[in-house]
Amino acid sequence: MAANASRSCLQFLLHLAQDNLDFRLPEIKSLLALRGKSFTPTLNFKEKAPFWCLDGLSEEDIKDVMARSVCAKSAFELWGHGRTHRELKTSLLNYPVENMSPFMKQDSTYRVNVYTFNKTLEFTERIKRIDDMDYLPFEGTVNLKSPQHVFCLLEDYGTNPNNIPDHPDYVYFGRWIADGQRELIRSHSVKNRHFIGNTSMDAGLSFIMANHAKVNQNDVVFDPFVGTGSLLVACSQFGAYVCGTDIDYNIIHGRGRSSRKKQKWRGPDENIRANLRQYGTERLYLDVMVSDASKPVWRMAPLFDAIITDPPYGIRESTRRTGSHKDVKPCDGIYVESHVPVSQAYHLSDIFKDLLNFSAHHLVLGGRLVYWLPIYRPDYSEEIVPLHPCLQLLSNCEQVLSSHTSRRLITMEKVKGAEGMDNQAHLPDPRFSPYEGHNAFREKYFSGLNKRGAREDTQSEVNGQ
Ligand SMILES: C[S@@+](CC[C@H](N)C(=O)[O-])C[C@H]1O[C@@H](n2cnc3c(N)ncnc32)[C@H](O)[C@@H]1O
Repeated sequence: MAANASRSCLQFLLHLAQDNLDFRLPEIKSLLALRGKSFTPTLNFKEKAPFWCLDGLSEEDIKDVMARSVCAKSAFELWGHGRTHRELKTSLLNYPVENMSPFMKQDSTYRVNVYTFNKTLEFTERIKRIDDMDYLPFEGTVNLKSPQHVFCLLEDYGTNPNNIPDHPDYVYFGRWIADGQRELIRSHSVKNRHFIGNTSMDAGLSFIMANHAKVNQNDVVFDPFVGTGSLLVACSQFGAYVCGTDIDYNIIHGRGRSSRKKQKWRGPDENIRANLRQYGTERLYLDVMVSDASKPVWRMAPLFDAIITDPPYGIRESTRRTGSHKDVKPCDGIYVESHVPVSQAYHLSDIFKDLLNFSAHHLVLGGRLVYWLPIYRPDYSEEIVPLHPCLQLLSNCEQVLSSHTSRRLITMEKVKGAEGMDNQAHLPDPRFSPYEGHNAFREKYFSGLNKRGAREDTQSEVNGQ
C-alpha cells in the first residue's frame, strides 16, 4: 500500500489464544526468524498475557506470521492504548495523523468491533463504547458487512474468571490486519482424519511443532517415528516435502487393526499418503518406509531441513528396536545372510541419544530438530534435557498431562557441522537415569496413579490436551 511509505514507527498488537501458553513465544519467534526478524516486545511484556505489543516490524512481517501462526488469533496495527479509556483517548489523539489518515478517508468504508477478554458486554454497552470514541476523525462510511477497514477496541479484564473487575485492566485500539490460522486446528482435526492410530498427534500441536521447526516451502522434512504421519500432514500444509520411517510394518502399509471405535480392521487406502491427499498436499509426499530408527539407512550427509518427531515413550506403544539374540556383530554394518534379527528393548535414553546424533549428521546447517521429551515432573530439572555439541537448544516448552507427568517440546538448531563427531549426544545429568532402564520411565510415569488416572493421562497424550 502506497500509504505505508509515509507511515513510521508502527507498533503491532497480537491477540493470542489462551491455550498452549508455553508454546506461543517460540512459535512467534520462529515465524519471525523465517523472515529474518527478531521478536522485540514493548515494555511490560508478559509472556502469559493474551495481548502482546511488538516493535520494529512491518505490516508484511505481521501478515506472514499470521499466515502461519496457530497460537495467535488476530493482529492489529496498534493506534493507542492505556490503563483507562481516558488514557486510551490521550494516546489515540497523540498518534501520528499520517499513520491513521489513509484508513479514514471520505470515500472509504469501515467497521469498529469491540472485543472483551474475560468479560461479556451487552450489545448496548458495546455500542456505547463505540459512540464514546467519536473523537476519532473517521470520515468514511460505516459498512458492517464488507468494510474496507476494520478497527477494534480491545478490553482486557485480566485472566482470572473468578475475579472479573468492573473496569478493564487495559484497553487497546487498532486497525485489524490479519487473523491467525486457528481454523487449521478444526479443519485438520484427527477426528475427521482418514488414517489414524492410537498415538496420532493432535492437529494444533502438529502445526505448532512445524512452526517451531521453521518449516518452509520446499523444505525436506523427516519424521523417524512417523506413525500415522500427523506431523507430515502439518509440514506439508506449510509447503514442505515430507518423508518418514516407522518400525511397524502395519502402520507404514496401512494394515492391521483399526483404531476407530466401530471398525475392526483398517480399510484399503488407510495410509499416510491418503492423509496428505485428504488435505490436498499429496504432491509433497516423498515416501515412508519400514525402518528401525536405531539403525538409520540414510547416506551420511545433511539431507533434511527439519526433523520433527514424537518418539515412542513406551506408554502406549512399545519401544523396540531390531537386534540379535547372540553376540553377532555386523561386518561394515551388514549382517551375514543367516542372521535372524530379533526385537529388543530400545531404552528411552538410547532413543534420545540416537535422535540427536542422527539429527547432528542429517540436518542441514540451521536446520531444526523438534521432538517431545516425556517428563516425570517431580524429577525434572533443565539439566536432564539431552544435549549435543552441534545442536543449540532453542526452546523447551511444557505440556502438563497430570500433576506428576508432562511432556516437553524440545527445539534444537544445528549450529555446527558434525563431521568426525560420532555419538556426541549426551545426557548431561545422572538424574537422566529415569530414561536408562527398560520400562523404568514407564513405571515412574504410572507410579501413584490408579487405573483410571493412568487411562486419563494416556488419553490426554493422544488428544494433546
Ligand atoms: C508416538 S508414535 C508416533 C505417532 C505419530 N506422530 C502419529 O501422529 O501417528 C511413535 C511411533 O514410533 C514407532 N517406533 C517405535 N520404535 C521404533 C523404532 N525403533 N524405529 C522406528 N519407529 C519406531 C512406533 O511404531 C510408533 O508408530
